[in-house]
Amino acid sequence: MRLTVIGTGYVGAVHAACMADIGHEVLGVDIDAERIAALTSGRPPFYEPGLSEMLMKAVATGRLRFTTSLAEAAWFADTHFICVGTPQHPTTGAADLRYVEAAVNGLAPYLHDSGYERVLVVGKSTVPVGTAARLAERLQAAAPDAEVAWNPEFLREGCAVQDTLRPERIVVGARSEQAEARLREIYRPLLDAGTPLIGTDLATAELVKLASNSFLATKISFINAMAEICDATGADVLTLAEAMGRDSRIGPRFLAPGLGFGGSCLPKDIRAFTARAEELGRGESVAFLRQIDEINTRQRSRTVDVAQRLVGGSFADRNVAILGAAFKPHSDDIRDSPALAVAEAIRRRGAQVRVHDPEAVDNARSAYPVLQFALDVAKACEQADVVLHLTEWPQYRELDPVALAAVVRTPAMVDARNTLDPTAWCSAGWTLRALGRPRFG
Ligand code: NAD
Ligand code: UGA
Repeated sequence: MRLTVIGTGYVGAVHAACMADIGHEVLGVDIDAERIAALTSGRPPFYEPGLSEMLMKAVATGRLRFTTSLAEAAWFADTHFICVGTPQHPTTGAADLRYVEAAVNGLAPYLHDSGYERVLVVGKSTVPVGTAARLAERLQAAAPDAEVAWNPEFLREGCAVQDTLRPERIVVGARSEQAEARLREIYRPLLDAGTPLIGTDLATAELVKLASNSFLATKISFINAMAEICDATGADVLTLAEAMGRDSRIGPRFLAPGLGFGGSCLPKDIRAFTARAEELGRGESVAFLRQIDEINTRQRSRTVDVAQRLVGGSFADRNVAILGAAFKPHSDDIRDSPALAVAEAIRRRGAQVRVHDPEAVDNARSAYPVLQFALDVAKACEQADVVLHLTEWPQYRELDPVALAAVVRTPAMVDARNTLDPTAWCSAGWTLRALGRPRFG
């Protein structure tokens, strides 16, 4: 089948490459000409495991092409996936829908003469409930046979390719059987491999996405709230989380305590959901999300405070090493990165801060030119008074605490992701602190 993917960021580039991989002819569209040039030569504009190989292959077969022209998109296919960003509005916290509107408004005038009988515009972007219905009305005025469906995206950065090819579910909100049937046809290889497709109305499809991200955020903030109680009582939040997670009704995933959630989605989605619920007069139904947000942000300042205590109460003239800049491992995405928020807060309190990350240094440097960066861990830790482990890249777990102790000025570590082995680090002479955990060393 032929389809277009409008917006080729983290979601769109992966979706386009995966759709070509399962046999479709795909045209990726973006307003960013540099991005389109990179993708055309098979280069992903960001780091995502497995994407580079898949892009190269899809571009080489000719099944995947890219353009900046929405007119070309309208002529190319009768199914258009909208994957543009829906960032947080800077003042209201609501979702900023200007990119979604620009994409649909930009495509609409070309649909009338495109020669296709039934055009389907499929939203994958995360939007406030009610957006799809509004866009459908607007689109019908320009192209009466065009229909809008909503197919929210659940991929995680760092395993986006695998999540797209083997999703746990596909949700399709549509107003006609034909629209759902077309999406079933597009996703046929995934459905044949056992992925369930849940067909629903437009509003439910939009809500599934926000409810799911809100639930995940709630789980993380719940365990971080428990870490605060552990700190007040001497209990150990890691053992608590393990014991809770063994209850199959609770489950162990998204119960990892520490620095909390960041990224371009969980934080902005709970704020956008709150704003939309308030608009609907149902603010009290999701009022708890404000607390989820506050608990989450608090873990950043708690981490800074723990480090400050370790350096004797003041960061002035102290060297601080930060391990991790990406908002999560296996990604170079630094949007709302908890690690960089902590690094910047410590710098503001007077320390010299040096940051290491295996993939995200370039992005971090352009967003935080005031921070210093190092391309290897030992360089970042040279003469450090404290080291903070803030993004749980697997290579940090493999670090040799004995070798690193020889590089720093004081062997003091804040493990804000709880993946270092306290026994090994303490045996090498380190003092190790973690939120909600006993003191080690
Ligand atoms: P992104 O910022 O990485 O990419 C958005 C792309 O859209 C950019 O390349 C931008 O140039 C392009 N764009 C903007 N306006 C355009 C227009 N009018 N026409 C064509 N292209 C345009 O965003 P993202 O992280 O891929 O997220 C996209 C959407 O998917 C958001 O709603 C997000 O909440 C949702 N989502 C993201 C993830 C994720 O892990 N990143 C996962 C699930 C859902
Ligand atoms: C999240 C969801 O997991 C995806 O299903 C969703 O599609 C996506 O948001 C989206 O809507 O964009 P993502 O942001 O890529 O995916 O990453 P997650 O794995 O969810 O991690 C988010 C943040 O939570 C990271 O900062 C991570 O370090 C943190 N986290 C995660 C914890 O602090 N504890 C945990 O137990 C799990």
